[in-house]
Amino acid sequence: MNGQVLRMSGVTVRRGEAELLREVDWTVEEDERWAVLGPNGAGKTTLLSVAAAQLAPDSGTVGVLGEPPAGAGATELRSMVGFAGSAVANRIPDSMAVLDLVISAAYGYLGRFGEEYGTVDYGRGRALLARWGVGRLADRRFGTLSEGERKRVLIARALMADPELLLLDEPAAGLDLGGREDLLGRLGVLADDLDAPALVIVSHHVEEIPPGFTHVLMMRDGAVTAAGPMEYAMTGENLSETFGLPLKVEHDGQRWSARAV
Ligand SMILES: Nc1ncnc2c1ncn2[C@@H]1O[C@H](COP(=O)(O)OP(=O)(O)OP(=O)(O)O)[C@@H](O)[C@H]1O
Ligand SMILES: [Mg+2]
Repeated sequence: MNGQVLRMSGVTVRRGEAELLREVDWTVEEDERWAVLGPNGAGKTTLLSVAAAQLAPDSGTVGVLGEPPAGAGATELRSMVGFAGSAVANRIPDSMAVLDLVISAAYGYLGRFGEEYGTVDYGRGRALLARWGVGRLADRRFGTLSEGERKRVLIARALMADPELLLLDEPAAGLDLGGREDLLGRLGVLADDLDAPALVIVSHHVEEIPPGFTHVLMMRDGAVTAAGPMEYAMTGENLSETFGLPLKVEHDGQRWSARAV
């Protein structure tokens, strides 16, 4: 593998008259950690669905891990991309046990029953839950979890198959201050881990970008407004264009913050 885990070229997604994604070009290398920013409705979740090989574009090309996502091996390919977010959470039955949910991802299925799982899978599932601070929830039903607990369980699940690419859609949304800071710390540890997959997180807030993230992609109305290494692309000018109001941005060496001018 040449180190490139995701490549999009001219990707366009249409629904009726609307263009959800417009001519998106984007590449992610295996050692990169990307933050995707943009206002509500910008197309961020749509972008992740395409990257996760769960949605095919109407035009343009997508290479996930060097293969076109449609066709042979699509299920296997999907298991090489971890995806956590409300688009995934909405498809999980409330009655599903947390540990079953996590380990069923080992084979790229969403909570499919009747598979044969081994002791190794159960051990790995419990270890992942513990690593994300929710080990005590292994035997609970998914429907009984709080918003913050769900987010952590879904990240553990997304890592179960040891993916090459991890996509997290708004991992910190809805968390309280302590929960957010704890989660960002854990994501920062992942970002610094050389063995970790390529990472992409979607957020509305620059304050939710974990330390160690290297690149930013900004989008508005389905189109990319800026993309590149943090130190070049994360500017007040780019943020202002993306969110449609004058903003200034600051960096304290670890974390970003932004406010209206
Ligand atoms: N089937 C559809 N038909 C028409 N428009 C759609 C359809 N599905 C999604 N959209 C629109 O596509 C746009 C992009 O949606 P998407 O969920 O990707 O945005 P987002 O950037 O993730 O927003 P948010 O920050 O609110 O999660 C939205 O305006 C949404 O209403
Ligand atoms: Mg979204």
